Amino acid sequence: MAVHRNKTEDDITAEALERFAQTPDPRLRRIMLGLVNHLHAFVKEVELTEAEWFQAIEILTEAGRMCSDKRQEFILFSDTLGVSMVVDLINHRKPDGATESTVFGPFHRLGAPELPAGGNIAPRDKTGTPTLVSGRVLDLDGQPIKGALIDVWQAQSSGLYDSQDEGLGGELHMRGRFRTDAEGCYRIRTVLPVNYPIPSDGPVGAMLRATGRHPWRPAHIHFVVSADGYEPVTTHIFDRRDEYLGSDAVFAVKDSLICDFVRHEPRGGEPHYTAEFDFHLKPAAEQRTSVLDAQQRLAALGARAAE
Ligand code: BEZ
Ligand code: FE
Repeated sequence: MAVHRNKTEDDITAEALERFAQTPDPRLRRIMLGLVNHLHAFVKEVELTEAEWFQAIEILTEAGRMCSDKRQEFILFSDTLGVSMVVDLINHRKPDGATESTVFGPFHRLGAPELPAGGNIAPRDKTGTPTLVSGRVLDLDGQPIKGALIDVWQAQSSGLYDSQDEGLGGELHMRGRFRTDAEGCYRIRTVLPVNYPIPSDGPVGAMLRATGRHPWRPAHIHFVVSADGYEPVTTHIFDRRDEYLGSDAVFAVKDSLICDFVRHEPRGGEPHYTAEFDFHLKPAAEQRTSVLDAQQRLAALGARAAE
């Protein structure tokens, strides 16, 4: 007679793994087995209580509720847990002189205007210090890339992105798309970037407070730089003087992206800053889904959720 034995938690883990072991697609199989393995190990390690399990469901539900075409609380969770930067590092190992990437963040918006060289992305920012960001887009041999597209976005000097600023009524601001000239040069007029706290009115903010973490990001400007035949790079430039470079709430600082913002105080003129940064692109190895395609899908999902 078979001896009856109560199932243990390890029996459930083994059973769940066995079911997913049938997954036909090998990559999906590997991901699901890894996910179940680690999720079960995590729950067993911390001995999750039922109350904590319910709280996790509430947090995820609230995160979903907050998502729209202008707000992505799940990306914010990924960023503040350090997951986005681990994914970034796995996917963009660039020992080869190409510009390093960093997080995309939740504030990119589609539809930024295409501006001429020297165009101003901050026409409505009256409190920021005027700043000229310029440089070149080059290949790995240092040759200029003509017609590269520079998609740039930045928080206003108030520390808010346009989508967070109710005074703008949905208008796009501090965003633009620029093309490099025959020498690979670009020039962007803006205001000095400021450090700002990431949104903390949702479950991510609650997590930061409960764990004694600050929400600040060092001053930066966002870029996606792309050109035909090259791998696009999603990145920022950071102000070298910022006090949060060593404790960015989303772990996104890389040394090679730190840039000098130089103050100029011309006699009789207005103070302003200049910053120079060259982007180096490597040849495209394969056609990957670009971050902007992914953004298009996320925006569509967010718009549906807001209906
Ligand atoms: C940002 O820089 O826009 C950002 C990135 C990650 C999380 C929150 C904000
Ligand atoms: Fe930002």
